[in-house]
Amino acid sequence: MKKFYIETYGCQMNVYDSQQVETILENLGMEKTDDYRQADLILVNTCAVREHAEQRVRGRLGLFKAWKKQNSNIKVGLLGCMGQRLKDKLLEQEPVLDFVAGPDTYRKLPIILDKIQHGERVAEVKLDKNELYDEILPHRDETSRISGFVTIIRGCDNMCAFCVVPFTRGRERSRPPQSILKEIEQMLEQGYKEVTLLGQNVDKYHYENTDFAKLLEMVARLDPNLRVRFVTSYPQHMKNEVLEVMAKYDNIAKNIHLPVQSGSNRILELMRRGYTREWYLDRIKAIRQIVPETAIGTDIIAGFCSETEEDHQQTLDLMEQVKFDYAYMFKYSERPNTYAARNYKDDVPEEVKIRRLNEIIELQNRHSYESNKRDVGKTFKVLVEKTSRRSDRQLMGRNSQGKVIVFEADKSLIGQYVDVEVYDFTQATLLGRLKK
Ligand code: SAH
Ligand code: F3S
Repeated sequence: MKKFYIETYGCQMNVYDSQQVETILENLGMEKTDDYRQADLILVNTCAVREHAEQRVRGRLGLFKAWKKQNSNIKVGLLGCMGQRLKDKLLEQEPVLDFVAGPDTYRKLPIILDKIQHGERVAEVKLDKNELYDEILPHRDETSRISGFVTIIRGCDNMCAFCVVPFTRGRERSRPPQSILKEIEQMLEQGYKEVTLLGQNVDKYHYENTDFAKLLEMVARLDPNLRVRFVTSYPQHMKNEVLEVMAKYDNIAKNIHLPVQSGSNRILELMRRGYTREWYLDRIKAIRQIVPETAIGTDIIAGFCSETEEDHQQTLDLMEQVKFDYAYMFKYSERPNTYAARNYKDDVPEEVKIRRLNEIIELQNRHSYESNKRDVGKTFKVLVEKTSRRSDRQLMGRNSQGKVIVFEADKSLIGQYVDVEVYDFTQATLLGRLKK
């Protein structure tokens, strides 16, 4: 097998994992292609967090099945969380697959590929609480060395009642700070201007006496021109020390993603989130006091088990109090074997879930609009990422708050920081002018 193609779904950690898989395959002498029709090996790195994510993958597998019918010599493998969740059942359900590999098994890919070459079908799904892939540096595309990810903590021990991630990604484990710093130093040598530290819950990062606040400070000190981002924060564990480090370093992006999920204490308890609405609002207050210019984003689930109209109103009310700059909003999707699936009834009717979700989205749209409107007239330091989708003469980049800004300027500015003044905005983008 010479050429591989890889398609990635789900979170940023999957994007990072896929880059590590690329490295593993390149070490075998294989070469990546962006066209699956050129590939000897087709890989799909999957997400299991909602049923919809799995359905999309099933659709793709259908396409690859048709392709394989005409090209019987190619191999198809499924990586990631959906594989971990369904294990060898997936081999039964999807005859197109030659193998299934869970998130902690990528080191075994050379053996797996050898086996499938000999006609075996393989499900490799053991979780390994020590696997950090620490020395496997991800493949970083030469054409876009501006902003990159670095995983700092794998797995999750939180066990939120609705969530499949602890089952698919296993126990929490932190990478040693030295190897994180080494990896980022190498990115700096390659010209990177921005790094995003990744974890399901970065606030739980912990290696010997280094906690997340310390790690963040060490990364920020590497280079004042490196912008440092991180996701995801967790309300129960987010400490003021982290906020104080953010306030101290200009190059730490002023953006916190702090999923709330619900504004009702009764639902938060059922979700086993480990915090109350009051606690969450106190964390928001701390962010606004210590790092006032921070953009705050969240995740919200509509229609969790037994959610009443009153619970839903509490969520809308919390949104009104916080006025999030942006949010990712979902309707509850029951995941087999989670605590919620085993103990509660998914009893909010679909049409009610949809209606509540729409109310949440509508309110958030208003808040995002207000947030963007407040930015008009302000000047931001923007890291230019690429030309905008609309026109070659327009560039797009992000400010420290993570907001996308589009402005007219020459392509030669890609990869640089520039000052841009915002004069208008659309639903998802700020429109700006380059400051001379
Ligand atoms: N801590 C993680 C959360 C991963 S899941 C992180 O790094 O973002 C991302 C979001 O998906 C969650 O915050 C939650 O809002 C949503 N989600 C998770 N399980 C869900 C489910 N069963 N149904 C609907 N939304 C879900
Ligand atoms: Fe999932 Fe909660 Fe962990 S949402 S990833 S169990 S923090």
